[in-house]
Amino acid sequence: MSSSSRRILLLCAGMLAAGTIACVAEPGYYGYGERPTPEQIAGWDIDARGIDGVGLPPGRGNVHKGAEVYAEQCAACHGTFGEGEGRFPKLVGGAGTLRDDRPELTVGSYWPFAPTLWDYINRAMPMPAPHTLSADDVYALTAYILNLNDIVPNEFVADRESLPKVKMPNRDNFLWIDPRPDTMAKPCMNGCADPADIRIASTAEGKKLTPRTTGPLDTMQQR
Ligand code: HEC
Repeated sequence: MSSSSRRILLLCAGMLAAGTIACVAEPGYYGYGERPTPEQIAGWDIDARGIDGVGLPPGRGNVHKGAEVYAEQCAACHGTFGEGEGRFPKLVGGAGTLRDDRPELTVGSYWPFAPTLWDYINRAMPMPAPHTLSADDVYALTAYILNLNDIVPNEFVADRESLPKVKMPNRDNFLWIDPRPDTMAKPCMNGCADPADIRIASTAEGKKLTPRTTGPLDTMQQR
């Protein structure tokens, strides 16, 4: 038996002797689950950051290859040229509509960063079978969709170097620093307040904000 499991057992035994019903694991551990392997963590850690592309993997893809993969895997829903079939979203167009009553938000008209397009396709598309595309195919699709939006030329090659450098048309309309004074709080990195000293000053209790039910659901519905 490992020394840590022995300590947990001792702790439980002590508590039982004292008449406590709950048995807790060592502080900081919950006594269940297992440590993930580096491979398992790598499987989850797939995000690519929009602003600078940190997290984009190796690989590359061009517009021509992207058109091929897109025709096979995406066009049925998003239209051959990104115009959108039926109610499936358009991926192209909408430039100049953002101030309209019905703005058309697409990758081209709205999205601020090209790496986000890579990230979105990689984690969510094609809708019926996400996580089935290779990194190269996702790069190629990203290049193709940017090209359909006239953001990159036909000879563009998407990779971890080129995507963060693409200037998306709507990028400057996003604010990077929120100037409102009440949002300027910085996250506390050291010398922070002890959570034990933080008191809840007000709750919704007694303010009749949420209807309470004392009995089963039908009692609540009758009220
Ligand atoms: C079965 C239909 C279907 C297929 C096939 C499909 N998509 Fe989608 N796609 C959707 C739907 C539905 C959404 C909207 C999802 C949402 O908003 O939650 C979407 C959203 C998107 C978006 C985000 C659009 C936006 O502006 O919010 C992108 C980019 C995209 N898909 C790319 C692709 C690519 C690339 C492929 C091919 C590899 C693909 N999709 C295949 C249905 C599909």
